[in-house]
Amino acid sequence: MSEPLHATDTDDAPDWITALDHYSPAYAADPFPIWDELRRRDGIVQSSAFRGMWVPCRHADVVAVANDVETFSSRQPIIPQYAPLADFALQVPPISSDPPYHTEVRRLLLPFFGPSRIAALQPKVAALADELIDGFVDTGRCDGAIDFARHIPVRIIATMLGVPTSDEGQFLDWVHQLLELAPTDFFAGMSGLQDFFGYFIDQVNARRAEPRDDLITFLLEARIEDRLLTDQEILGMCLLLLMAGIDTTWSAIGASLWHLAQHPDEQERLRTEPDLWTTAIEELLRAYAPVTMAREVVRDTEAFGCPMRTGDPLLLPFPAANRDPAAFADPDVVDLDRAENRHLAFGVGIHRCLGSNLARMELTTALQRFVARVPTFRLADPDAVRWSGGQVRGPRVLPLAFD
Ligand code: HEM
Repeated sequence: MSEPLHATDTDDAPDWITALDHYSPAYAADPFPIWDELRRRDGIVQSSAFRGMWVPCRHADVVAVANDVETFSSRQPIIPQYAPLADFALQVPPISSDPPYHTEVRRLLLPFFGPSRIAALQPKVAALADELIDGFVDTGRCDGAIDFARHIPVRIIATMLGVPTSDEGQFLDWVHQLLELAPTDFFAGMSGLQDFFGYFIDQVNARRAEPRDDLITFLLEARIEDRLLTDQEILGMCLLLLMAGIDTTWSAIGASLWHLAQHPDEQERLRTEPDLWTTAIEELLRAYAPVTMAREVVRDTEAFGCPMRTGDPLLLPFPAANRDPAAFADPDVVDLDRAENRHLAFGVGIHRCLGSNLARMELTTALQRFVARVPTFRLADPDAVRWSGGQVRGPRVLPLAFD
């Protein structure tokens, strides 16, 4: 694999005003002061990195972009350094599409993520969390990201798609390759996609020969616009569901553990005040929202005082919006009792997260089992914690200790 030459190669922070790089280790480790600085200035910057992407940081601007689908297209939901995804004919609907096509694809998938279907999966998530905890609870330590958080979403989405959970290591590798490496490393992207497509073409063909009761078979039989889905659409949806289903919730569980490890008093409150969970989960999602999306400007416009040109990429940091003092009182205080909390962790507008019921259920169940079964835990080595960079931010190394 080639060694990419870009700002992320060094620990030196780039100039955030002129060269914001969301893959920089400094950004991954602590983006909060960077967003504060940008908000204090004009609230939006144009970076010289990532093909001149625009980056709005204020809550109102992020909402305005998400709601203006005529100007800001979803055809570029991730910003590679080298070219727009659409140049590779890579579509991952519905997240990479605009209306009216987007509306049809989204409607197709909705029943799979409705509350009753997700509630039926809850006992499976609880049993899985318990099995993982059994593996380390007697040792007095674990890695919250590696031994716990990452296994839960990958096994559940694999079960929904109908692919073997024993291949989870492969799925996790693709998440790393395609979300963490690919946007700055062309070769990593291409080889990850090649492997992914090879695997899923086999899975699709197996169901063509012999249908099963799973999401891939459902896609094979589904119709939009009075036609069956194309192979390209089916593979694109599998890719989206696998990526969106794993990295996001893994990050949310890990970030919540990272926070609670530093607040034993809050662990104790969660153990003794069951009613606290509802507001606590929303607050952890607000404060540590993992997902930043992107858009492409599809008509010349003057937005937020900036001259944007057709084809310009735009980074849409929902996590930055969640820390805007104009939208949230004391945004950097994590207040598990926060009642007024219209956060943007799941986005806003027509692309609002389709998997939010599943994500909330996995996050709540995983944390509830962890807090119930693991004695008061703390960071074993704060300097060893490593956060992923790019558009999905969460701890990838998280050593925890408990007595
Ligand atoms: C804590 C976990 C999660 C977070 C924070 C999250 C966040 C988001 C965000 C911010 C969007 C909006 C995208 C945009 O505006 O362009 C989105 C869309 C989406 N999410 Fe999630 N997500 C999570 C978990 C999941 C899970 C578990 C799934 C299930 C596979 C999922 C599936 C999707 C899909 C399919 C879309 C596209 C919806 C559309 O374009 O209409 N997400 N998610």
